[in-house]
Amino acid sequence: MRWCAILLPAMLYAAVAAAEVPVPSPPRGDGAQCVEPTEVMRRDHMKFLMHQRDETMHRGIRTTKHSLVECLSCHTRKDDEGRFVSINAPGEFCQECHAYSGVTMDCFGCHATTPRQPTSRSAQSLGRLLSDTSFRLHIQP
Ligand code: HEC
Ligand code: HEC
Ligand code: HEC
Repeated sequence: MRWCAILLPAMLYAAVAAAEVPVPSPPRGDGAQCVEPTEVMRRDHMKFLMHQRDETMHRGIRTTKHSLVECLSCHTRKDDEGRFVSINAPGEFCQECHAYSGVTMDCFGCHATTPRQPTSRSAQSLGRLLSDTSFRLHIQP
């Protein structure tokens, strides 16, 4: 009788734990492969990003291989209406693992979380018009 009182709750607990503890499964990226072998990316992506950041910010070197902007082009998904979902939303690529591992990062306070959409032709010409000095002189009071 007594073993039952001990063992049964333990068995139940194990069953519940097995069902509830999720292992992160980030959505697969687009394309055949990542910018480095997957194993390497899993372990070292933060090092590549920080290194790339230093290269760009302090030395003015711009490459695309480890660019944060590039990650978005393969690791964001679209919703049912065809709009990009934030790469850092719950269940999406970056957040899926980080939530599991308790990682917090501030990168997306400044960096975009969806790929840049091509601006429409009319928006581009409006931008040109607004930056044109003679046009600005006309509208200034
Ligand atoms: C306070 C705002 C801010 C925060 C926070 C921030 N960045 Fe940046 N980051 C910038 C700016 C501004 C640039 C320069 C943008 C450019 O010139 O392309 C930059 C450039 C970069 C670059 C080089 C450009 C590229 O995409 O290759 C990388 C990589 C990068 N940041 C990664 C990160 C990572 C990783 C984090 C989080 C750990 C982070 N940043 C947090 C503002 C920020
Ligand atoms: C050309 C598309 C592409 C680009 C760009 C890209 N990735 Fe990937 N990434 C993939 C693919 C595809 C996989 C899965 C490969 C596999 O299953 O072996 C992957 C896998 C990963 C993984 C491992 C995921 C897992 O399931 O364990 C990480 C982490 C990762 N990428 C981070 C990044 C970061 C950070 C960047 C930007 C510096 C980036 N990726 C840029 C396509 C890309
Ligand atoms: C396969 C799981 C996985 C994916 C996918 C993933 N990360 Fe990570 N990331 C981790 C883990 C685990 C750590 C903590 C590693 C450590 O503490 O040594 C981490 C740490 C980081 C750090 C360092 C945070 C800090 O302050 O120490 C940055 C920056 C980062 N990830 C950026 C990204 C970005 C950007 C993406 C999406 C493009 C991404 N990661 C996707 C697992 C992942």
